[in-house]
Amino acid sequence: MKLLIKNARVIDAKSNLDDQLDVLIENNKIAKIAKNIKDKDAEIIDAQDKVLMPGFVDMHVHLREPGYEYKETIKTGSMAAAAGGFTTVCCMPNTNPVIDNQGVVEFVISEARKTALINVLPIGAITKGLKGEELSEIADMQNAGIIAISDDGNGVMNADLMRRALEYASMLNILVIAHSENNDLSFGGVMNEGYISTKLGLKGIPTLAEVTMIARDIEIARYTDTCLHIAHISAKESVVLVKRAKKDGLKITCEATPHHFSLTDEAVLGYDTNTKVNPPLRAKADVQAIKQGLKDGTIDCIATDHAPHAESEKDVEYDHAPFGIIGLETALSLAISELVEPGILTLNQLCEKMAYNPAKILGLDKGYIAEGSNADLVIFDPEKESIISLANFKSKSKNTPFIGRKVKGAVALTISNGKIIYQAD
Ligand code: DOR
Repeated sequence: MKLLIKNARVIDAKSNLDDQLDVLIENNKIAKIAKNIKDKDAEIIDAQDKVLMPGFVDMHVHLREPGYEYKETIKTGSMAAAAGGFTTVCCMPNTNPVIDNQGVVEFVISEARKTALINVLPIGAITKGLKGEELSEIADMQNAGIIAISDDGNGVMNADLMRRALEYASMLNILVIAHSENNDLSFGGVMNEGYISTKLGLKGIPTLAEVTMIARDIEIARYTDTCLHIAHISAKESVVLVKRAKKDGLKITCEATPHHFSLTDEAVLGYDTNTKVNPPLRAKADVQAIKQGLKDGTIDCIATDHAPHAESEKDVEYDHAPFGIIGLETALSLAISELVEPGILTLNQLCEKMAYNPAKILGLDKGYIAEGSNADLVIFDPEKESIISLANFKSKSKNTPFIGRKVKGAVALTISNGKIIYQAD
């Protein structure tokens, strides 16, 4: 099967390409990128006025399988990813059982092979059962196919254990993704600590819970000369710490989520539990710092932290709802509306944050477009306006605070491994 995409604005961060071109796909690969390609055997896709980029790579999602299939499955999560323009996602290990041994890794990989529309790469737990007490079977899990390790959802409170994890992972050449939270400082908190939490009478999570942990882990990475990726940074002081660490030449990378650059803690004012997320939505100055960090390169990537929860779990008092926001299907339009439209990022930089950088950090041969490379692509209309609506979601869960929000930018078509896996109506 051949596909010929005509007249797309082809954007690729790796080669700094931004030009109106045709792209021919043959045998799952990009066969040719040029002007005026003609091929009478190919199925034609008209991409006039649309942007073509490498398929997005999300290094932080929760697919909930095994154990919480009522929230999401690998299949439904992959459908949501395809609808959002993602062709590779990395799934976090806070499943049941936890992805902390070879058997569970093998299950996720085989389930993904059977049911997923896109590449699903499992992340293994740093510690057994995510308990923060002893290292999990990292080498065994690597042999079984994990792409990174993380205790996402929990901070690794034992600094010595984190040091051993970084040293061991460095020896194995596997990435450590830190969920930077001091569990003592955040204990019992449900939203950002500040004026709004006081006003609402909700217990706050101070930025300090994140910042002290990032400071600690940067120093451990400096001392051990190891790589560290910091998940979902949310506080302005965190951006300062990462910026300084990069300036010092440390191998530190980080990500920010669409909800952390699109919403402040004022969104919690109506007690909508869909705004409850960890780390919490922060103050205006933090959101501005996240945007600035994305612009100046301190923040390497945009990752969704897609965290599905059932309606029955979220439909309770704010204190009792689980943390999490789904993000795969709203990421592109929020990024275009909040970052590209106001001139914070160019489309080329967006491509870097959503495709090239995450792939590079993970050591994947993905996230770019070139002749001969795998045909993982997204085509989107950067100008199309829409209102985020529940009706269109492919995810099994609907926990998003963005319903009703007017946004710009919509995925038109997603291609994974040379096949069309999503096409907008
Ligand atoms: O809000 C969150 N939800 N943050 C996390 O770190 C974990 C995630 C989840 O698994 O629901």
